[in-house]
Amino acid sequence: MLKAIILVGGPMKGTRFRPLSLELPKPLFPVAGFPIIYHHIEACSQVPDLREILVIGFYQPNEALNKFIMQSQQEFQIQIRYLQEYTALGTAGGIYHFRDQILTGNPEMFFVMNADVCGDFPLMEMLNFHRSKGEGAYGTILATEATRQQSLTYGCIVENKDTHEVLHYVEKPETFVSPTISCGIYLFSPHIFKTLEVTFKKNLEDNYNYCDLNLRVPGFDFQTPSKEVIRLEQDIFIPMAGTGQLFVFSTSRFWSQIKSAGAAVYANRHYLAIYQRTHPERLAKNCEGKPRIIGDVFIHPTAIVHPTAVLGPNVTIGRNVTVCEGVRVRETIVLEGATLQAHCCVLHSIVGWHSTVGMWTRVEGTPNDPNPNKPFAKLEIPCMFSTDGKLNPSITVIGSNVQVPPEVIILNSIVLPHKDLNGCYKNQIIL
Ligand code: GDD
Ligand code: GTP
Repeated sequence: MLKAIILVGGPMKGTRFRPLSLELPKPLFPVAGFPIIYHHIEACSQVPDLREILVIGFYQPNEALNKFIMQSQQEFQIQIRYLQEYTALGTAGGIYHFRDQILTGNPEMFFVMNADVCGDFPLMEMLNFHRSKGEGAYGTILATEATRQQSLTYGCIVENKDTHEVLHYVEKPETFVSPTISCGIYLFSPHIFKTLEVTFKKNLEDNYNYCDLNLRVPGFDFQTPSKEVIRLEQDIFIPMAGTGQLFVFSTSRFWSQIKSAGAAVYANRHYLAIYQRTHPERLAKNCEGKPRIIGDVFIHPTAIVHPTAVLGPNVTIGRNVTVCEGVRVRETIVLEGATLQAHCCVLHSIVGWHSTVGMWTRVEGTPNDPNPNKPFAKLEIPCMFSTDGKLNPSITVIGSNVQVPPEVIILNSIVLPHKDLNGCYKNQIIL
């Protein structure tokens, strides 16, 4: 029997995703018509004998999360539970804290998946690879390739090319180490808990020394880390490298992080493309009396789209959205309850929940897609501001419940929720 863990983090995480993550936990943000972690769950449901998924994070359980878990359980006929950390315990602290729940039923192995990534996850291939490494293998990391520059913002791995053993691991190095980067998707044998226990005990001891020092040096307030925090990358992978217990499985399939709104639009495009193979029925088709569809488009069955609208490529129209006549949408996610009034044009943007874009208005953003001339380039997540303090051009994000008036242009801007705009805006954050 197998299990999977999805690490969803908590409310202090996902800051680069604001204002969209102000409304609902980022892992539930819909990409290609479904919450980000729905795609993880769907990938897990394809693995035979994977019986339980544990979603671990430090969000307070809320209605949206509970409802999502209940619906996914029913849809995939798989047990799914949310386990809440009392505080941020790091990427492995929660795994150790909830070890009894994870080990219940004696799973042979378990996957661990970062929630903020998307991809065509090769879980079965990872499983077969890990099994082929025998009893001594405690963990396998899914890896892909990045450019030298971009690799510095990921976990970097040096492997033995013949055995695929991890020889060296550095988390977000300052100088180039290796173009092989961790995808934040892992497979572990239960043996890993031995390593976690050793680290946990060592951290406890170090923590005790910290406190001791605090008592002995009056006036000094050493910051005391939560004693249960364990970082999978620094505390576990770094010491495991070179011991013969940790392996790397490389994929050349689609994979990307979802850290920013721009990344969600990019992920949307790729998940829609994957539907061509996995779920062609989810993609809208051209037919008489229906809107014109260009490329991959997802339209929620409850949305009302006027037959004169033109949608695509890479558009997702959410639940209960209204798209009026003559509207043009491309490379955009339109969230639940939004209205696109007649003849508006929305390009490279996200339109928030229950917002309205007025007639003849143009909402446009600038994508920062990977450079196609650079092999293995990943999506850039540029700084929000340039050195002279200007907002760098990116996807336009309209927060929830925003009214964009008719006949204006909103270009490369971020609009916070509940705004009633009254003119044109370019390269601005509208607070
Ligand atoms: N439950 C829980 N508790 N989850 C957490 C915590 C925590 O305290 N901290 C982070 N997470 C979750 C996040 O929600 C996210 O899904 C994942 O763990 C990793 O988050 P980050 O700590 O922000 O790391 P990162 O995304 O910058 O880098 C990680 O992922 C890269 C691939 O996307 C690292 O694992 C890198 O090595 C890796 O390349
Ligand atoms: P490329 O093919 O990438 O060169 O794009 P394009 O030159 O066709 O135009 P652009 O990317 O600016 O716009 C995408 C689509 O939206 C095009 O099919 C345009 O016809 C349409 N479009 C552009 N501006 C408007 C507008 O203001 N209103 C409406 N309704 N449609 C528009």
